[in-house]
Amino acid sequence: MSGFSADWLKLREPYDLRARNAAVLDAVTALFEDKPSATIVDLACGTGSTFRALSPLIPVRQDWRLVDNDLSLLARVPKPSPPNRNVTAVPVDLNRDLEMALDGPADLVTTSALLDLVSEEWLTRFAEEAAARRLPVYAALSYDGRAELVPSDPLDARIVAAVNRHQKTDKGFGPALGPDAAKAAIAAFERVGYSVTHGEADWTFGPQDREIQNEVLSGWSVAAREIGSLPPNDIVGWLTRRREHVAAGRSSIRVGHVDFLARPTGTR
Ligand SMILES: C[S@@+](CC[C@H](N)C(=O)[O-])C[C@H]1O[C@@H](n2cnc3c(N)ncnc32)[C@H](O)[C@@H]1O
Repeated sequence: MSGFSADWLKLREPYDLRARNAAVLDAVTALFEDKPSATIVDLACGTGSTFRALSPLIPVRQDWRLVDNDLSLLARVPKPSPPNRNVTAVPVDLNRDLEMALDGPADLVTTSALLDLVSEEWLTRFAEEAAARRLPVYAALSYDGRAELVPSDPLDARIVAAVNRHQKTDKGFGPALGPDAAKAAIAAFERVGYSVTHGEADWTFGPQDREIQNEVLSGWSVAAREIGSLPPNDIVGWLTRRREHVAAGRSSIRVGHVDFLARPTGTR
């Protein structure tokens, strides 16, 4: 499964849903307590994971603009059945045309699993453009560099270090922030006068979660191979041992993520 394939997004969605930070979600839904309707722009929507996670929690009429540059993912966004939810798929390259995606009526901007792909420069632009429009921003599931594997293996730390270096390579938005994204994003929104509520949103894979564990471990092996800091045979040996733990039902993995809601305050 490739980085943004529909199959991979489908596999990870239930784990993302379970990981989303409940206090941050409560703060997001509270934005709409006194409002008759909600207009929400979801950046880098994939097939609509954030729409599926958030829309049932907001008890008002909703208009969603789901934005991505991958037409095959956009073609899979939901055609919602509840009469009070309207969804429009919007093809935009967010590196080139972020401002276009943010223009128009909106009460909230959302995104998930995007910010670790972007550069510091893009993030600063995002915070400034959101602030110029006084838009609250809910950003879920930014990878923060923590990874715990049980049982442990002598090569785990070096593989994770290589993965974290790979995370900082260009993912289409300039040199990526990778594991530093959440911290940098919170600082960027605070710099433009926002108040930020944040919390951990870790993936937790238990021994029964074999398919996603194998996908994550394979992806990490490919990333480590591309970084080139470890002998390929060592990476193969590590992946073989880890897959044996998964097959035997004795493997657990925790992967650190951060969620936040950034809200404009009175001052700037
Ligand atoms: C890890 S996926 C997350 C998808 C979705 N938010 C989710 O949580 O399932 C990253 C998404 O970013 C989108 N993306 C990457 N580069 C983009 C760009 N330049 N403009 C718009 N979307 C982009 C991909 O197509 C993909 O849908």
